[in-house]
Amino acid sequence: MCGIVGYIGKKQAGPILLDGLSRLEYRGYDSAGIAVRGKRGVEVVKSKGRLALLVEKTDGGKSLDGTVGIGHTRWATHGVPNETNAHPHCSADKNVTVVHNGILENYRELRQKLAANGYKFYSETDTEVIVNLIDYYYKKYKAGPVDAIARFMQRARGAYAIAVMFRKYAGAIYVARKDSPMIVGVAEGEAYVASDVPAILKHTRTVYYIDNLEMACLTRKGVSFYNADREPIDKEAVTVEMDASAADKEEWQHFMIKEIHEQPRAVRNTFDRYVQDGKVDFSEAELTEEDLRCKHIVITACGSAYHVGIVLQYVIERIARVPVRVELASEFRYRDFLFEPDTLVVAISQSGETADTLAAVREAKAHGVKTLAVVNVQGSSIAREADRTVFTVAGPEIAVATTKAYSAQLVVGYLLALELARVHGAVDGTEYTRLLSEVASVPDKIAAILSDISSYQRFAAEHVNMHDVFMIGRGIDYAACMEGSLKLKEVSYVHTEAYAAGELKHGTISLIEKGTVVIGILTQSGVYEKTASNLEEVKSRGASVVGITFEGHALGSEIASACWTVPVIDERFAASLLVVPLQLVSYYMSVQLGLDVDKPRNLAKSVTVE
Ligand code: F6R
Repeated sequence: MCGIVGYIGKKQAGPILLDGLSRLEYRGYDSAGIAVRGKRGVEVVKSKGRLALLVEKTDGGKSLDGTVGIGHTRWATHGVPNETNAHPHCSADKNVTVVHNGILENYRELRQKLAANGYKFYSETDTEVIVNLIDYYYKKYKAGPVDAIARFMQRARGAYAIAVMFRKYAGAIYVARKDSPMIVGVAEGEAYVASDVPAILKHTRTVYYIDNLEMACLTRKGVSFYNADREPIDKEAVTVEMDASAADKEEWQHFMIKEIHEQPRAVRNTFDRYVQDGKVDFSEAELTEEDLRCKHIVITACGSAYHVGIVLQYVIERIARVPVRVELASEFRYRDFLFEPDTLVVAISQSGETADTLAAVREAKAHGVKTLAVVNVQGSSIAREADRTVFTVAGPEIAVATTKAYSAQLVVGYLLALELARVHGAVDGTEYTRLLSEVASVPDKIAAILSDISSYQRFAAEHVNMHDVFMIGRGIDYAACMEGSLKLKEVSYVHTEAYAAGELKHGTISLIEKGTVVIGILTQSGVYEKTASNLEEVKSRGASVVGITFEGHALGSEIASACWTVPVIDERFAASLLVVPLQLVSYYMSVQLGLDVDKPRNLAKSVTVE
């Protein structure tokens, strides 16, 4: 949440900052601002709303003179989205200028302390407290920027990534972080800072990952790093291999539809990375047979990644016969969880920065429980803190609503289920090979669904006025409903609920009335007829029913006004196919309604606050 960029070099900073922010806009887009240091000192320009307004206001950044600057795109936490609350923030005398991502939890107490020392505040933000606290320490101890920032870090509670400019240090940008992402990039005679790699990829591939409670000073001559005790530390640069075009929209209208269509590749690349010679090989992740011999699995994650966990609970228990619990990371971290002996905690996260999932990993580690992360972003906090990390190979995901990362996470989970089954003796060699070839068929089957999208477009066009949708199914079908329902809600703002089909009549069926849309998923053989009966029940109460099932199993027109089919696959892997029609319906519904598909209201990708 919130995107930060910074540049110091010989080129004009404004256009570079705005270009970087445009690649981080998925992190927050309710306001934006840049501060550039020129001959006249620091000049700050901000605007409420999308970045395009700031681009217009600054003539693409060219109206600001100077070769050093910092920028920010905001997802509001403290204070409404307006120009005053937008970053960068400056101390009253412009001694210190800051952009910040994260939440300063003890900002009220610190604000009082500063007010008692004569500081006045113009905004409602916690960031202004950071600016003034750094200014206060800088002036009180007169020991320079690193000392002032280190003192701020000692007092701050919460998460932050900050980039700071000091009036007296014209040739430097200082940065620090705790629990919010931040990377530093270097090139000849210049240095960059950003919340995420795509923001600087067109300038450099040489990056440093700043660890928690570390600081850095960026100058044109290079970057120095410090620990929280203000001591210089050495860091190794990493060469990023990410494909720069992956973060471009190319000919597609939106990132979401591009990423939906990238799913076959994301799944295939992930599969190929961990399957060699007909066997799953997690040795790259240092996942050992001993790890896999665990007796219990706890999957923890948020949002769509949590829905992956729900699917995997069914898949792992059915294939490997190892008991699985799935916990929302935001609940898990505070519930004083009772860990069974021999538990493996699996944390799933696209960004690798989700605050609650990161906290869940720490909670498990604090109890001496082994952690395995399934993460898409190299160098991210969860990837670095978990004991083992398996990377999904989905490439950068820019649309706020996840699609290809979800699909890649499922595949890692299937491979994990197979490995657990092998180690626990739950499958023989023949069944292992058969199941693996079923997983290998997922990319082509997703591609087959994507080759004809007309029914989903038509459905969206015909239902543009619908306002309540229920998605029902049992087992893995229900898990797929959960993800489909979230997708529709977040990009089209249509109210939907995913319901376990058998649970509907315990209350919620009272909401069904003439015309209510009910999408029923029926791929699980043991419960197909039961879900079909539940659809009959809602149909007889006036619902308009749509079915999703395997080819050859379509519901008759006496129950469903439409029935979408997906290619046949081992039913335990059905979620990978079922989610695709639901993603497409959500996307086309959003387009029909003229909404901002890639940046839905109130949302941001990478939720780094709790
Ligand atoms: C929904 C969506 C979110 C994320 C959730 C976790 O489309 O993208 O629900 O799945 O915020 O994010 P990660 O996977 O980055 O931990």
